[in-house]
Amino acid sequence: MCDPAIEFDTRLWPQAGRERMIVPQPVGRIGTDAPDVEQDMLRRMDDTHVFMMGDNPALPRMPEKPTLLDFFTHRFGDMTFNHLLTSAKRAMDDGMDDKVVLACLLHDISNGCLIRADHGYWGAQMVAPYVDEEVAWAVKYHQPLRYFADEAAGYAYPDSYRRFFGEDYVPPDYLRRDADEARAHRWYGTARAVTMYDIYFFDKVEPIDPAIFTDIIGRNFRQPEEGLGFDRSPTAHMWRTMIWPNNFL
Ligand SMILES: [Fe+2]
Ligand SMILES: [Fe+2]
Repeated sequence: MCDPAIEFDTRLWPQAGRERMIVPQPVGRIGTDAPDVEQDMLRRMDDTHVFMMGDNPALPRMPEKPTLLDFFTHRFGDMTFNHLLTSAKRAMDDGMDDKVVLACLLHDISNGCLIRADHGYWGAQMVAPYVDEEVAWAVKYHQPLRYFADEAAGYAYPDSYRRFFGEDYVPPDYLRRDADEARAHRWYGTARAVTMYDIYFFDKVEPIDPAIFTDIIGRNFRQPEEGLGFDRSPTAHMWRTMIWPNNFL
């Protein structure tokens, strides 16, 4: 959950004294009513106007070597923050193994502050360099599996999806294909378990301290020494985009 008061920070912000203009990321703007401000802002460039690059004072400043939980506490909105912690805690309280608990904790990580569309696929790719292959697999396949009931496993099509998308919504072929593929896979149970704990809580939930997952993360998430975003993994740029989501380029 983004709380600007998370730390008292006296360090200067970049390019102090200038107006740092933010162009919304195209993927979040196109097709919406939000105006395309890029041309206007290009015209405003002068000695006192630059484009946002680097730390944005509107967001809590990330530590120099960010850890997984720093993204939870410094970047994620309340909805994703509570949803991920609640899913993972329920799995942990049920005695599920580390892989399931970690997959629950990570399953919607892309929604935290990167991208919602195809979030399971984005999230899986983002975490893959740092977790067991089975965990990343479960993060990816929870997305297609959410759309298809499995009565034997006790999983019904979610009521929340009926409300989100309408009764007549038909999932696209690629989700059906991937759900079928997942069902035939030896790790099906792990991804299905994620969908079982994947419950939305629109009401106020008991606050959960993310620190309760410190041990599970320590055992199962390869935290890079340089910090997430600054290591040389193939997905470091995704973490950097979450650190500096308003960068112009
Ligand atoms: Fe999800
Ligand atoms: Fe979820």
